Amino acid sequence: MMRAVVYGEYGSTNALHVIDVPTPTPAADQVLVRVGATSVNSWDWDLIEGGILARLEGGLREPRRRILGIDVAGTVVGVGQHVTSFVEGDEVFGDLSGVGFGAFAEYVVAPAGALARKSPSLTFVQAAAVPHAGLLALQGLRGKRSIEPGDKVLINGAGGGVGSFAIPLARKWGAEVTGVDREEKLEAMQTWGAHHVIDYEAVDFTRTGIRYDLIFDVTSRRTVLAYPRALAVGGSSVVVGGSIPALLSTVTMGTLLTKATDRQYSVLVHRPNPDDLDQLNGFFEAGLLEPVIDSIWSLDQIRDAVQLIADGAAKGKVVVTV
Ligand SMILES: NC(=O)c1ccc[n+]([C@@H]2O[C@H](COP(=O)([O-])OP(=O)(O)OC[C@H]3O[C@@H](n4cnc5c(N)ncnc54)[C@H](OP(=O)(O)O)[C@@H]3O)[C@@H](O)[C@H]2O)c1
Repeated sequence: MMRAVVYGEYGSTNALHVIDVPTPTPAADQVLVRVGATSVNSWDWDLIEGGILARLEGGLREPRRRILGIDVAGTVVGVGQHVTSFVEGDEVFGDLSGVGFGAFAEYVVAPAGALARKSPSLTFVQAAAVPHAGLLALQGLRGKRSIEPGDKVLINGAGGGVGSFAIPLARKWGAEVTGVDREEKLEAMQTWGAHHVIDYEAVDFTRTGIRYDLIFDVTSRRTVLAYPRALAVGGSSVVVGGSIPALLSTVTMGTLLTKATDRQYSVLVHRPNPDDLDQLNGFFEAGLLEPVIDSIWSLDQIRDAVQLIADGAAKGKVVVTV
């Protein structure tokens, strides 16, 4: 048996309970990982709150997945018979969002192909902060057009988990970086490397007259029609998440605008994969990037840890040690 955070109804963090459940057994292509640490992502909170998009994906009336947890960093303690890439004792990390979640527990099974080796330069706490937010940042910034030195890059919603990787990455690639978030997070964004910061409650970044080569929108609240006035010729906007109208307008009108104009509009479809995690490992080992940990909690404190994300109060990543 193992301890795990289990939930059976949508609504609030009160639905989360730490109980004993059977330890999973790895299938032929899976490994069993003893979880060292995990971290909380806004997707975990979305699936607890149970909005319409979350219900469409996670179960209409009640959650299909009983154990959440996307990010895992831990040690391989069991190996399926077809797995050749890992042996017991290997330290791994990964993004389990595409393979069933489950990291809010002492043990989780995952396909070997979903995991990468953890860099020895990272602790389990640091490594657990990386996979989901780090991959979203890397894949979103890489986007349709790679960043050139001197490019003006604006990251909207940059004070949270994704921004804590996206700001230093964009800066590493030579961009002039602007971070947009709530006033309380402006200083943190500057610490992470933003040259300029904007308080979204005070200033609409699409109406400042400044045009950006890349707008990386972590949490879009605008339809795609607002972006052209803030995009330079040849520039692109990549929306990672946001409101339903914002996402729908980018997928529909954004596709037409991309065909008809000299600017590109897209929604990122994130693809967890070990190669990108290895690339991030390389940045950590070279000292070019460092996970930003807002706070560290225990499994028994999971409600408080998730509530921080629900309240938008975290600056960087909220990690849970197991
Ligand atoms: N495309 C994909 O495949 C995919 C997959 C998974 C997740 N996602 C998305 O990826 C994102 C995850 O981001 P994250 O982990 O960095 O979340 P996070 O830690 O919650 O950070 C989001 C930040 O945006 C800020 N914010 C809220 N409203 C804003 C506004 N109107 N303007 C500017 N900033 C605003 C929040 O601050 P306050 O709340 O304090 O205001 C918070 O600091 C989510 O949007 C999620 O839906 C996308």
